[in-house]
Amino acid sequence: MNTADFSQARQGLLQAMLPNSIAIVPAASLVTRSRDTHFPFRQDSYFQYLTGFPEPDAYLVLSNHTEYANGLSVLFCLDKDPEQEIWHGRRYGPKQAKKHFKLDMAFPLEELDGLLFDLIDCHQHLYFAQGHNPSTDELVFEILEGLRCAHKQGRRAPSCIIDIRVILDEMRLIKSDAEIQIIRKAADIACKAHIRAMTFSQAGKNEYHLEAEIHHEFAMHGAKHPAYGTIVGSGGNACILHYTENNQALRQGDLVLIDAGCELQGYAADITRTFPVSGTFSKEQRQLYEIVLEAQLQAFTLIKPNNTIQQANDLVKEVITQGLIDLGILKGELAENIEQQTYREYYMHGLSHWLGLDVHDVGHHKVDGQDRALKPGMVLTVEPGIYIAPDAKVDRKWQGIGIRIEDNLLITENGYENLTQAAPKTIAEIEDIMANGK
Ligand code: GLY
Ligand code: MN
Ligand code: MN
Repeated sequence: MNTADFSQARQGLLQAMLPNSIAIVPAASLVTRSRDTHFPFRQDSYFQYLTGFPEPDAYLVLSNHTEYANGLSVLFCLDKDPEQEIWHGRRYGPKQAKKHFKLDMAFPLEELDGLLFDLIDCHQHLYFAQGHNPSTDELVFEILEGLRCAHKQGRRAPSCIIDIRVILDEMRLIKSDAEIQIIRKAADIACKAHIRAMTFSQAGKNEYHLEAEIHHEFAMHGAKHPAYGTIVGSGGNACILHYTENNQALRQGDLVLIDAGCELQGYAADITRTFPVSGTFSKEQRQLYEIVLEAQLQAFTLIKPNNTIQQANDLVKEVITQGLIDLGILKGELAENIEQQTYREYYMHGLSHWLGLDVHDVGHHKVDGQDRALKPGMVLTVEPGIYIAPDAKVDRKWQGIGIRIEDNLLITENGYENLTQAAPKTIAEIEDIMANGK
């Protein structure tokens, strides 16, 4: 992404807002991890989308008032401060930020309260994400009250506050070419990391060793952070959907489920692969794996413009349910099992989510109460699974097997492109790379 891409996003927002509107978008702040240390800084996704500005404690203010022909973009950011910068790192400061990020104006953060009062004055609509950031709520409501109290001085508060996410979430749902390029890169790196974990896996190693291999591969390609807590669940741990302890020894004969994706320039990949710790699937693991894979491949046939994720998920539920009936894990007919949702004991999560700046990216799945139709430019996951808990009331041979297969798909004009195809997925591919890829 370059500054033109962020300008384009700002222009999109300025045009989508009602006339005579002002928008306020806060950056993220540092979060304390323990005394005197912070979690690695992660920019707020909305702020990132509109600016690419990488520092904490900043505000973007946009106006499409008729007084500005092409709209107005103003940044408030931390001022230059040599002493602070020695301790905490370089800052752009307003002057450099204005130039580098092609903004109309930039000011030190200390001037925010006073200038925001003047900037908001006389706009009819105010767009911001109420409730998203408590200090912004407080700041904005204080300024609005101040404007209302100053009506005798000719001040006027916007009469209408609108949730900016209504516009931004729709914009973020359809990825630009520049965004797709980055997601594609993130997906490529994540595929390499999964391959690395497969070729490294061995009984006696620990889940955290695989986690380290994954993160190493991410970093070696410039993706310093995972997009979410990496999941390395071996044996029955694979049945804990958001397992992140990753501290158990890998045992011969078990499967290991890895759900890991890197973040690159703010954009996430989100891949799951499940493979045998020692490289060879047992009969039972193979039988369950083939059902999940078949469910995913069947789902892919329905991933195209104008179809819905719900259609694909209905098919997945059928394939999984029929598969579990065929193995004797579920009893009875397909229709009654679907009706009673018996599959939910073994497949208890959704099939898909949007993917982008957030791993569970923004965008409603329903529009006017109807399932949303897929459109070119959307990026989503397809991630069916079967999880048979160690204490499930089934034949022992199935217990403690958890499988998920997750890919990242870009919707195209005619169907989809699987961005994570490079991560081995069929039993033959996995066994081959584990035997020969070391
Ligand atoms: N990694 C989280 C998810 O698959 O939704
Ligand atoms: Mn996912
Ligand atoms: Mn995932």
